[in-house]
Amino acid sequence: MTLENINPTGTVAWQKLRAHFETIAHTPMQKLFTEDGDRTRKFHIQWNDFLLDYSKNRITSETVQLLLALAEEAHLKEAIQNYFSGDKINVTENRAVLHTALRSSEKNILVDGANILTEVEAVQLKIKSFAEAIISGNRKGFTGKTFTDVVNIGIGGSDLGPDMAVEALQFYKNHLNLHFVSNIDGDHVAETIKKLNPETTLFVVVSKTFTTQETLSNAITLKNWFLQSGKAEDVAKHFVAVSTNLEKVTEFGITSENTFPMWDWVGGRFSMWSAVGLSIALAVGYDNFKALLDGAEEMDQHFKNEPFEKNIPILLALLSIWYNNFFGCETEAVIPYSQYLKKLAPYLQQAVMESNGKCVDRNGNPVKYQTGNILWGEPGSNAQHAFFQLIHQGTKLIPCDFIGFKECLHGNKEHHDKLMSNFFAQTEALLMGKTDSELTAEGSKNAFLMPFKTFEGNKPTNTLLIKKLTPKTLGSLIAMYEHKIFVQGVIWNIFSYDQFGVEYGKQLATTILEEIQTGTAKPHDSSTTFLLQEFLK
Ligand code: F6P
Repeated sequence: MTLENINPTGTVAWQKLRAHFETIAHTPMQKLFTEDGDRTRKFHIQWNDFLLDYSKNRITSETVQLLLALAEEAHLKEAIQNYFSGDKINVTENRAVLHTALRSSEKNILVDGANILTEVEAVQLKIKSFAEAIISGNRKGFTGKTFTDVVNIGIGGSDLGPDMAVEALQFYKNHLNLHFVSNIDGDHVAETIKKLNPETTLFVVVSKTFTTQETLSNAITLKNWFLQSGKAEDVAKHFVAVSTNLEKVTEFGITSENTFPMWDWVGGRFSMWSAVGLSIALAVGYDNFKALLDGAEEMDQHFKNEPFEKNIPILLALLSIWYNNFFGCETEAVIPYSQYLKKLAPYLQQAVMESNGKCVDRNGNPVKYQTGNILWGEPGSNAQHAFFQLIHQGTKLIPCDFIGFKECLHGNKEHHDKLMSNFFAQTEALLMGKTDSELTAEGSKNAFLMPFKTFEGNKPTNTLLIKKLTPKTLGSLIAMYEHKIFVQGVIWNIFSYDQFGVEYGKQLATTILEEIQTGTAKPHDSSTTFLLQEFLK
């Protein structure tokens, strides 16, 4: 079974949402709060260590009911069933979408008649024993020294997830120094090499396809650098690979013993739960890696089993559709109030935009409505001093997710209280704004300055207050966004799990590289030809 083909704009709920939008679009949230003292009780969800308050949105109970009806009409329930049970919902690549299987505690998930959990478990055991051998120092480098540094060589989904998670879990880290080399820009690898000693460095080459230009070029450069000190037979001690393409890995010179398999039913941008997360297990130990998986599985269970109206990923997805498709918002921001989450936005950018950046529906027809949102963000409080001005007083409506933690990790309560006071203050200011009369009451007398100093407010935010940043809550948080992406793809009637656009860019670059290397620019559009000629001069 695959996903059904339902044009969202043809549903009854969509038509009703359109009409409802006209009635609510000009109602300020301040009024909704004044009129309904029960609003926050109605519009919040408490789940495990998570509290989602979505009351600061431009919604009423009717909006939520209509959005939930849209999800029903899009047959979301059946789609969730298809997703978790391994149906080939990635139709354009004829694949199942089963990153959830990588953290599942079930006994049996079938793909093409075989139980994939047997292999998943075997690879997890391999990750565990390898990570433990490196961390403990039992496995040594070619001169008998223990490893001090690990370089993850990968790009996109083979880089962003591990890099984000290692950064996020820095508090739980062991002695190993982690480095991430992704960019084909030779300066990236050159700067990394400066920090390394070949005798004590482990290289993890991560590429689902093992054909990605950036990853292979960086891996070759690092291998050549390593071979200036070590011999060919030492490569086995220092290079391991994560891939589905075992043939190409062997060609590169990495043995099967040093290879961690993954599977085509795991999308690159959802792969940090597989051996792609080896660097995470190395950085924080296997138990913490397992806790990350457990946290994700708890969110999977919540998503699968909780009624839609109490389901965090579903509500977040529907609210996002409300702004994207009815208010015409182009972007949304994610603002974590934790410096540890500074790589969350770049990670989510790939997950969200590579998945739902599609303009053709599941029939292959151009969509006549907006799909994937543009996602961006930075940690608070830094973000307040960068782009918040535009969110407060610009002309664009930018819904934001605010993510904060009740407890801090280093126990510096004074800093944490200051951080969180900013967290709460911003969502309050975005909601309430500031009126002329408030300014006057504060003693503002300059009439000319009034328009500049008033704030309309009425800016939507979701507040996610989580107990503490742990491997487990991080796992739940990432899984929450993964499911939000899925729900949006289902409702927009698009295929979220291919990425042909990115692949086209890769092809073009290969052709142009040939021209650069041979010094002969073939005909392109006049601008590209001109630029290539200038570059080749
Ligand atoms: O960026 C395009 C992409 O195909 C991503 O989907 C993927 O995560 C990345 O390239 C890396 O691919 P691979 O893991 O095969 O090297």
